[in-house]
Amino acid sequence: MLAAAGSAVGLGNIWKFPYITGENGGGAFVLVYLVCIALIGLPIMMTEILIGRRGRQSPINTMAELAREYHVSRAWRLLGWAGVIAGFLILSYYSVIAGWALAYVFEAGGGAFAGGDPDAIGQIFADLTGSPGTLLFWHSLFMVMTVVVVARGVRNGLERAVSFLMPALFVLLVVMVGYAIIEGDFARGLDFLFTPDIKKVFFRCEMVDGAEHCGYTMAPLLTAMGHAFFTLSLGMGAIMVYGSYLPRNASISGSALMIVAADTLVALLAGMAIFPIVFANGLEPGAGPGLIFQTLPIAFGQMPGGTLFGALFFILLTFAAWTSAISLVEPAVAYFVENQGWSRVRATLLVGVICWVVGIGTVLSFNLWSGEEFQIGGKTLFDLLDYLTANIMLPLGGLVMAIFVGWIADKSLARDELRLPEKTFRVWWVVTSIVAPIGVFIVFLNAVGLLSFVE
Ligand code: TRP
Repeated sequence: MLAAAGSAVGLGNIWKFPYITGENGGGAFVLVYLVCIALIGLPIMMTEILIGRRGRQSPINTMAELAREYHVSRAWRLLGWAGVIAGFLILSYYSVIAGWALAYVFEAGGGAFAGGDPDAIGQIFADLTGSPGTLLFWHSLFMVMTVVVVARGVRNGLERAVSFLMPALFVLLVVMVGYAIIEGDFARGLDFLFTPDIKKVFFRCEMVDGAEHCGYTMAPLLTAMGHAFFTLSLGMGAIMVYGSYLPRNASISGSALMIVAADTLVALLAGMAIFPIVFANGLEPGAGPGLIFQTLPIAFGQMPGGTLFGALFFILLTFAAWTSAISLVEPAVAYFVENQGWSRVRATLLVGVICWVVGIGTVLSFNLWSGEEFQIGGKTLFDLLDYLTANIMLPLGGLVMAIFVGWIADKSLARDELRLPEKTFRVWWVVTSIVAPIGVFIVFLNAVGLLSFVE
């Protein structure tokens, strides 16, 4: 359970949640995200854990085995394969961003943020992302760190690390929120995060050929739902693998609830730490992926002891990213070891090299390939990878899991694993096999434009 929590809490909470909330107008986006967490994330977390605990193998073999048990097509194991590919793609860019956190350990520790001048701090970030060589260096270092841990198969070490790193990260975030209350524009930050303003989120104006077009867009719905999957590590088999290690007597619903609660709390704390600083310093909430790297250092530069505190913060962020990255490769490594008879070292090296190479595309998305001629539909390669994985592959994976457990397998599968009181079980079943799939489906329809209404 601790390992799963370590997988869930990562860059998604501290880096991605604030920046996409900023880009998508705040309150109403947060509300949709929270609804997705409760109605889709939690039930699918339970589903993924229970599949894993029943199958007790890599996601590919688990799906193959469950398909056999319930006399359905072996094609269900393709879900495992899709997860392996999603994991590769996610880790390729995840590692680049984790590299930023790693680089910032040294920036903070070296006193680069002293004084906390927003312009100087913005420049540090621009210099980092503008240099392909530097980004490649930190991306490579993070990838090596990940490969080393996965290759050695440290399961006990991982849980022990998570059990003290997570509380430490939590304490630091609380201190940051304290700073935001004292020095930031806390009222405006809270208002931005928690006052739902539908128009601010779903009404957009765009310049098309020099003319302004305005209308409603449902795009933020898909982003919010995709992020619910991403932040909880759902839909690709990572949680399934950890579910396969869960003892038979442990409660799946209890574990899922704890993981979801911890993950959501960390994200909301990060938002409450960041937006007051954004508004107090006249920065843009929609600044994009650099948001936390342009705001938190202002606080570190101004607070007493900020050099040490800032370094510590980025160390913990790197660790959080690390425990998440490990779970992104675990399904693939488990498969190569089980089926191909490879050693863990060999399997991990292969995965690491592939992710490292694909990651170069993300490295270049922030500099040499950032221009419009390299974009598709206004998206860089990094944006596209993020969109494809978080918004499409993960929700599809989750949908397939929900349908398998809710409709394909015998109901006794979920009943035996969850061991809930019958009434609670029925509620869970309705939410998992009806509410969540329909929710995912409707959001998808919106995204392809079938249901959007534009003025
Ligand atoms: N949940 C992690 C985060 O928020 C990222 C992550 C780890 C992940 N493993 C995953 C996302 C599996 C999707 C699927 O940073």
